[in-house]
Amino acid sequence: MHAMSNGKIYAAIRGAGHYAPERVLTNDDLAKVVETNDEWIRTRTGISQRRIARPDEYTSDMATAAARMALADAGVAPDEVDLIVVATCTPDMIFPATACLVQNALGCTHAYGFDLSSACSGFLMALETATGAIESGRVRTALVIGAEKLSSITDWTKRETCVLFGDGAGAVVVQASERPGILSSQMGVDGALADMLSLPASGCRHPASEQTLADRLHYVHMSGGKTFKSAVRVMADTAVQVVRDAGLTFDDIDLMVPHQANLRIIEAVAARLEGDLLPKCFVNLDRFGNTSGASIPLALSEAQTLGRIKPHDKVLMVAFGGGLSWGGIVVEWKP
Ligand SMILES: CC(C)(COP(=O)(O)OP(=O)(O)OC[C@H]1O[C@@H](n2cnc3c(N)ncnc32)[C@H](O)[C@@H]1OP(=O)(O)O)[C@@H](O)C(=O)NCCC(=O)NCCS
Repeated sequence: MHAMSNGKIYAAIRGAGHYAPERVLTNDDLAKVVETNDEWIRTRTGISQRRIARPDEYTSDMATAAARMALADAGVAPDEVDLIVVATCTPDMIFPATACLVQNALGCTHAYGFDLSSACSGFLMALETATGAIESGRVRTALVIGAEKLSSITDWTKRETCVLFGDGAGAVVVQASERPGILSSQMGVDGALADMLSLPASGCRHPASEQTLADRLHYVHMSGGKTFKSAVRVMADTAVQVVRDAGLTFDDIDLMVPHQANLRIIEAVAARLEGDLLPKCFVNLDRFGNTSGASIPLALSEAQTLGRIKPHDKVLMVAFGGGLSWGGIVVEWKP
């Protein structure tokens, strides 16, 4: 918990933005490519459609568009940005970092930046990292972005995974503040479960070869059932802890923004928590699918656009993903 004391620098979210590619891929469209159907996908996941980026549209383009909207919302100019963190598991390239491409596209002439790899928990880990940099006094203004082109690592021949993912981006502007905006946070990983959800090749363990292509190792591999159970457990436990650390109860929470992986996971998490939390859960996975690192900021920004988040609202975010990794953050929105 970030305790209150005189003279302390706090961090607060001042703006949010999002971007989703134009092309819509419906469940019926997918049923033409793999053995599946709309009913199965909707009842097992809650997803009806997802957005797919153009072949020439990259993670950095989507990140830039979302960041531009967040800067406008915050009333912050690009040259005021000190730090850019892009949470992504689908960077444009292994290096340079997507953050550098975003820095150039936006004209953030005074910023440094880097990419953060923590799959679907990446955005919350990026927000935690930026918060630490701001609270230390080293950074005043940070752009925290989650952006993904998951369609580039989706195995379109595997019905178990290809129905789940989509492309998109979301961003927030975080600034030094006299009033606390980031109220509490908790992050965790368990590398013993690394094989549960991974993209085995493209790194140094399996450099690209004819064999890695034949074995389809450049795509997401997942044990769906195990991931489901771990997700429910870690998200519920983390939610309890961060709400308590913020000195709040679930009644005080105005909106919960969980990682948008599967509606049944969100329902199971809400059922484990005190109070009637499900109506307070923001859900847009029906229209965007699971966009990994982009999912929470895309949901935050859309919720603000729809009037579901207003200044001073207490917002609870929880995520889980490959690693296994997880995180939770409670914020007071635009304090
Ligand atoms: C993937 C997931 C939706 C599967 O749902 P499930 O209820 O566990 O389904 P199962 O894996 O038990 O599969 C049930 C059957 O449906 C089949 N099936 C799988 N995908 C299918 C699809 N798209 N369409 C139709 N049938 C499908 C399976 O082959 C299996 O058939 P079988 O019983 O003949 O073997 C679910 O496990 C899940 O959401 N897990 C978490 C995934 C996740 O969130 N990953 C990202 C983490 S950030």
